[in-house]
Order: sequence, then structure tokens, then C-alpha cells
Amino acid sequence: MSLLARIVSVRGVFFGLRAEQLDPDPIRQFQRWFRLARRGRCPWPTSVCLATVAPDGTPSARMMLLKGADEQGFSFFTHYVGRKARELDACPRAALVFHWIELLRQVRVEGRVEKLGPEESDAYFASRARLSQIGA
Ligand SMILES: Cc1cc2nc3c(=O)[nH]c(=O)nc-3n(C[C@H](O)[C@H](O)[C@H](O)COP(=O)(O)O)c2cc1C
Repeated sequence: MSLLARIVSVRGVFFGLRAEQLDPDPIRQFQRWFRLARRGRCPWPTSVCLATVAPDGTPSARMMLLKGADEQGFSFFTHYVGRKARELDACPRAALVFHWIELLRQVRVEGRVEKLGPEESDAYFASRARLSQIGA
């Protein structure tokens, strides 16, 4: 871990986070920490736990890989069948938890979920290795 990442994480753990140190825009604050997670050599900075909920209220969670984070929101790619897709169709709300243990930090996100447009899905699919495309 870089010295800067180490100082930031240790300071956060011992002295807590103060609102005035944080960017008022939560996405910009996320991007700042995300850059730190990448620079801090977190082995999988994009891994994130995605929680969804079934119509009867049963929650479920699984690991995903983040593909983007900007003012539009957080994006990931998945198939349209399977449990998370069914649950998101029925209840398009979800929670994400990033955990960057090297920074001793978690980021929690909650909100509405919507499908990306077909152009973005197609572009992502085209960018993947042939074996991953076959697997998908
Ligand atoms: C580190 C890690 C990253 C993963 N990333 C993805 C992903 O980006 N998209 C995806 O559909 N599944 C991903 N998976 C698999 C999911 O965790 C999950 O098993 C799968 O999507 C089926 O979930 P579901 O039955 O709730 O639909 C990942 C698993 C691991 C361990």
C-alpha cells in the first residue's frame, strides 16, 4: 500500500471522518477513494457486494465487478436471467457495499436500479475476450 493510502486509512480509523473533509458530492468522494484503492494496490478494487430483495422481502447478496461510477450512477453487467435479474425486475432497488480492506474502509450505496441501454451492453460484450463471450 502506498504511504498516502496508509496515512489516509489510519487517520480515518483513529480520528473518524469529518463532514468538512468530505466532498459534498458523494460520487466525487467515491471516485477519490476509488482512485486511492487502485493506487493502494487493493487487489480487487472493483469488487462489490450487490444486495437485492425478493417480492416477499427475502434479501440476497453476491459479489460483482463494478464497471463504472459517474454522476449517472454505479454500473455493472450481468445476464437478464437468474435470481438477481428476477429480483431487480420485481423490485428495482438495491444496495452495494465496497470493502477495501487495505484502506480499512467501506462504501455503502443504496438506490434505484435501471437497465443500461443496449448500446452500452453491446459495447461491453464486444470488448470482452472470446472465451468470456462464450461463457456469457
Ligand atoms: C469476485 C466476483 C465477481 C463477480 N462479478 C460478477 C459480475 O460482474 N457480474 C455477474 O453477473 N456475476 C458476477 N459474479 C458472480 C455473482 O457473484 C453471482 O454468483 C452470479 O451473478 C449469479 O447471481 P444470481 O443467482 O443472484 O443472479 C462475480 C463473482 C465473484 C466472486
